Amino acid sequence: MTVPRRRLLVATGSAHKLIELQRLFGDLPIDLVTLRDVGITDEAPEDGATFEENALQKAHWYARASGEWTLADDSGLEVAALDGAPGVYTRRYAGPNASDTENYEKLLTEMAGVADRSARFVCVMALIDPSSSSARTFRGECPGAITDAPRGEFGFGYDPVFEVDGRTMAERAPAEKDALSHRGRAAVLVAAALRSELEQTR
Ligand code: IMP
Repeated sequence: MTVPRRRLLVATGSAHKLIELQRLFGDLPIDLVTLRDVGITDEAPEDGATFEENALQKAHWYARASGEWTLADDSGLEVAALDGAPGVYTRRYAGPNASDTENYEKLLTEMAGVADRSARFVCVMALIDPSSSSARTFRGECPGAITDAPRGEFGFGYDPVFEVDGRTMAERAPAEKDALSHRGRAAVLVAAALRSELEQTR
């Protein structure tokens, strides 16, 4: 029997995240569409106090604007010695338009001489069905540690300074990162929810 395909708007402007999600949802009967595909150029507000609030805020806003099934995520880094910072400010840690390198250099400076390097990446994905406006959230976490210096060429963001079992995320090939990462773990939960949803509607 042919399973109907579902369109899913991935509400991110990040090409890196989109590529990761295309890999992670590759075996589902889902066509991922981007904000550009549906002609949305405005950005949703993102001023929540938690990853959950931000992911829901973005997903509701883009679902209303597009009328599509919508998936939005919010992610960031929580460092134990910094009381959970940068948290929801991870993207703008070194300033509103900071580059990835500026952000992780600031983190390395803050962490200079700090013995407790433990940290975790968190990703919350919010999935919205526009017909009911019902929203569900899915959380993935990846425990690790902040390095003393950047290492590796893969990935993006803080990958060169975040290590798990002695190797940074930027030293790991994409499939290896997916199996460990906060986004990979949240995406597995989303994929299971989408699969069961699609089975019910066929
Ligand atoms: P946002 O979810 O787009 O707000 O991203 C939050 C911040 O976390 C950005 O600075 C990203 O670069 C960073 N970030 C999110 N996911 C990852 C990742 O998988 N690796 C490294 N940095 C990440």
